[in-house]
Amino acid sequence: MTTAELRIKTRLVVIDEEVRKTVLEVLERTPYYAGPETAAFEAELAAYCGVRRGVAANSGTSCLLLALLARGIGRGDEVILPSNTFVSVPECVLFAGATPIFTDVESDGNLSRAIVERHLSPRTRAVIPVHMFGHPVDMDPIIDLARERGLYVIEDAAHALGARYKGRRAGSLGHVGFFSFAGKSITVCGQAGMAVTNDAALADAMAGLRVHGWDQEVGNVWHVAERVGLNLRTSELHPAIGRVHLRRLDGWTETRASHATRYTARLSAGGAPVVLPTTRPDQEPGWLHYVIRAPRRDALRAFLRDEGIETGVHYPVPLHLQPAFQAFAPDPSAFPVTDAMAAEMLTLPSHPWMSDHDVDVVADAVLSFYRR
Ligand SMILES: Cc1ncc(COP(=O)(O)O)c(C=O)c1O
Repeated sequence: MTTAELRIKTRLVVIDEEVRKTVLEVLERTPYYAGPETAAFEAELAAYCGVRRGVAANSGTSCLLLALLARGIGRGDEVILPSNTFVSVPECVLFAGATPIFTDVESDGNLSRAIVERHLSPRTRAVIPVHMFGHPVDMDPIIDLARERGLYVIEDAAHALGARYKGRRAGSLGHVGFFSFAGKSITVCGQAGMAVTNDAALADAMAGLRVHGWDQEVGNVWHVAERVGLNLRTSELHPAIGRVHLRRLDGWTETRASHATRYTARLSAGGAPVVLPTTRPDQEPGWLHYVIRAPRRDALRAFLRDEGIETGVHYPVPLHLQPAFQAFAPDPSAFPVTDAMAAEMLTLPSHPWMSDHDVDVVADAVLSFYRR
């Protein structure tokens, strides 16, 4: 069965008339980048998160790099991050010139204060908690530790736009947080990301570095680099689409949460031998991904594919085992939870355009695999 023939997919985006109209309007005027759509999207998303500033860039990865560079994290510095995450996290640390310190995770797939504490050294400058799958990290203990030790906290909220921790938005909890819009809680039909922060000086520094280190994007300071930057700006099209989709986000999050409740009820009632995602009372997850831990995961995945159901694996090879990063994780036995998760994690389809019936079809297919 080809991907095109799959009946139920992990990702689907329905482009409606408002998005089409918006795209055409943006195409008919200039500037095509660094213009009013970018500025409005930054202001609207910052307000949504309850913070002062947003700095949009051409990907979530770029936002993380900007957050590191703007704070001067570089050579000689260590940055603590989980091995159970996406490749962007250590790659940005390395491009900034710093050293990634890979850690294992708790059974929920996230970092904790205890884990961070075990990896501190006199060279530790920053920590990057990742809200995996949209489930916020227990941030307060990590923020307390960061205060005690003078650490910089960058939240990787790529999966967690719309999620809350103790009533506060994911992304607004550390010194800076960042989101990805490449097919995440909202999509911008392409690549873009945004960093959010309450620290105006940090936001200004990120905004300058995003455009060649020119500290202002208008006026006669163009072409005068105050610092060594890059060109990480986004086109106006993506923020324009992001603005439309941001207005729909809360509704989409409700639908994803309702799919999660439905999956959990049906899979537990059917007695599937899988581990289901759980939620702490302080979390309101964004439910970007509904991830189960499934024995015989690869066989289940093939079975579901034959039934026309697409699934995902986030992430199949932990970072500490990837050739590019192995040198920074000298003891491969130090990641038992991450290794076990990588062998069993399976992302079931769950997106706003899926019906309750589709959820039941997927859950029943999982149950029938284990009953054979
Ligand atoms: C956890 C995590 N962090 C960072 C990123 C990077 O975001 P982008 O793809 O927008 O660069 C991703 C993207 O999938 C991600 O999943």
